[in-house]
Amino acid sequence: MIRSVVRGTGAALPRRIMKNADFEGMVETSDEWIAQRTGIRQRHIAADDETTASLGEAAARAALADAGLTPDDIDLIVLATSTPNNTFPATAVEIQNRLGMQHGFAFDMQAVCSGFVYAVTTADLYIRGGLAKRVLVIGSETFSRILDWSDRSTCVLFGDGAGAIVLEAGEGAGAIADRGVLAASLRSDGAHKEKLFVDGGPSTTGTVGHLRMEGREVFKHAVGMITDVIEATFSTAGITADDLDWFVPHQANKRIIDASAKKLGIAEQKVVVTVDLHGNTSAASVPLALSVAVADGRIKKGDLVLLEAMGGGFTWGAVLVRW
Ligand code: ACO
Repeated sequence: MIRSVVRGTGAALPRRIMKNADFEGMVETSDEWIAQRTGIRQRHIAADDETTASLGEAAARAALADAGLTPDDIDLIVLATSTPNNTFPATAVEIQNRLGMQHGFAFDMQAVCSGFVYAVTTADLYIRGGLAKRVLVIGSETFSRILDWSDRSTCVLFGDGAGAIVLEAGEGAGAIADRGVLAASLRSDGAHKEKLFVDGGPSTTGTVGHLRMEGREVFKHAVGMITDVIEATFSTAGITADDLDWFVPHQANKRIIDASAKKLGIAEQKVVVTVDLHGNTSAASVPLALSVAVADGRIKKGDLVLLEAMGGGFTWGAVLVRW
C-alpha cells in the first residue's frame, strides 16, 4: 500500500526574540508568572518585513534542502495558518509563487492550533488517493499581528514562526513497522467558539480583529480532549504509549503537556518540549518542535512519533508517524 513518508523537515523563526521580562513595562506581569503558569521563557516576534508567507517560504526551502529536493519535485502545498497574508488568495499559493512553482496546486487549511495535524492528515489522503506524490506541509503563523497587546492574559502566550515537512509517497506493507503516516484521529466542536476566537473577520466586522481567550476554560477541556483523540489513534494503530519513541504535542502550555503525558502514561523523557523557546505558535508549533528534535538527533529514521494538537474551534487531533 501507499504510505506518506517524511523525507525532510525545516523551520524559520523571526529575527527578534522577545523575553518574558520585555513584557514587564508593557502590561502588569512578570517573568516568574509567565514561566510558572506556562513554561514560556521567550518567543520570536515578526518584523514588518517578516510575514506568514515569508516565514513559510523559508521553512519550506529548509525542508526541501533537508530532503535533497527542489520546488520542481513538489505537487502540492498545504499551508496550515490562521494568520494568512491576505483574506485571499491563499497564502499557500503565494508561497508556491515565491518558490517559483508554476505547476501543481496549493491551498490553506484553517484549524487554528490543530492546523498542522489537520494538514498532515489531508496531505496523507492526497498522496494515498494518488493526486500527489510529494507534498510540502507547512505551518506558518504571525499571531503577533492579531494579539491585543494590552491584554496580559493573552499577549504573553503567543509567538511567530514556521515549520515544514516534505511528505513523499512510499511503499508499505500495511503494517505498524511501515515508515510514514500510520493513523490519525481528528475532532472539532463549534459549541466552544466563544472560549477562543478572533473578534473580527471579513464577513462580520470587516476588520482583522484580535484574539480573545478564556484561558482557564480552554485549559479545563484541553487534557481530556487531547487524551481522547490520542487513545483513539492508539486503538486504530493497535499500540500503547510504551511503543512510542517520541511525543510531539502542540506547544501551548507546559502544564497541559505534562498533564496529558502523565494521563496517557507517556514517559517524560519521550516528550519534546519547545514552548520555552517559541511560546504558542499555533499551527507552527508542532513542525517547529519536530524540526528541533530532528536537528538535535533525538528523532531518527524508524522512530514512532505521535503528533497532537488542540486549539480554537475547538479543534483537536493526533497523527501517528513512523519517521
Ligand atoms: N501576568 C500576571 N497575571 C496574569 C497574567 C499575566 N500575564 N494573565 C492573567 N493573569 C492573572 C489573571 O488575571 C488571574 O487573576 P485573578 O485571579 O486576580 O483574576 C490570575 O492571573 C490567574 O488567571 P488564570 O486564567 O486562572 O490562570 P491560569 O493558571 O489558568 O493560566 C493560562 C492562564 C496560562 C492562559 C492557562 O489557562 C492556559 O494555558 N490555558 C490554555 C491555553 C491553550 O492551551 N490554548 C489552546 C491553544 S491556543 C489556540 O488555539 C490559538
